[in-house]
Amino acid sequence: MTPEALPRPPAEPLPAAWPLPLWIAHRGAGRLAPENTLAAFRLGAAHGYRAFECDVKLSADGQPFLLHDTRLDRTTPERGPAGDRPWAELSRLDAGGWHGRAYAGEPLPHLDAIVRFVQRNGYALNLEIKPTPGLEQATGTAVAEACRRLYRGCAAPLLLSSFRPEALQAAQAAAPEIPRALLLDRLWPGWPGVARALACVAVVTDYALMDAALRAQLHAQGLRALCYTVNDPAEARRLLGLGIDGLITDAVDRFSPQAGPQVFD
Ligand code: G3P
Ligand code: MG
Repeated sequence: MTPEALPRPPAEPLPAAWPLPLWIAHRGAGRLAPENTLAAFRLGAAHGYRAFECDVKLSADGQPFLLHDTRLDRTTPERGPAGDRPWAELSRLDAGGWHGRAYAGEPLPHLDAIVRFVQRNGYALNLEIKPTPGLEQATGTAVAEACRRLYRGCAAPLLLSSFRPEALQAAQAAAPEIPRALLLDRLWPGWPGVARALACVAVVTDYALMDAALRAQLHAQGLRALCYTVNDPAEARRLLGLGIDGLITDAVDRFSPQAGPQVFD
């Protein structure tokens, strides 16, 4: 039997409506402002971005707030795991001074504050559930429940994503109506089945993993294909040529979302 004659897997048609714009600002505005702060979102928006990725985890008393690292060391003056502290304490920390004096005093944002900003402006939000290790299910549940409450009656696009299937599973159980995406930093065995079981609408891969075959596999499975963190114009061009559905970038000052698929050097 020739390869042409082999049966093809049934291609599930992609839903026509995909609410996220192509370009998504990583952690608000990449490295131009302190990551995962409201100031970063404002700067990303000033550069024309209408969709934002950020990382969310839980305080010791279960409040969802924005922070990438497990520890406070890199982006605040404090040391130690962030998840050990109550929100009343975290909310007083300086999450901007590490970046430069222009941002000194910028607070760690509560999820509610970020949602207020994106909803008021009609921006899309890609919330990466970034649990403190061991709190995958609790974080998935709490973030999904918070989003269900905050997005009631609001049409602004929202996508939950995570590297941790357990977090996505908990989010699915708590608020199945909120779209989910599986994040992949490598193509571990069984990921397509996990994405299917979690009823994901998208897979977001490290850009180096994405090629024509993977893009086709995702689309054939009814999944949108997105990549992180794309900062190089040549890579952006390559990915756009593959028919990618979304690019998460730090380079908000180099890539203009208004330019559509055009990429500037
Ligand atoms: O959500 C995509 C991207 O943010 C994943 O990597 O480490 O920057 O959160 P990281
Ligand atoms: Mg992230």
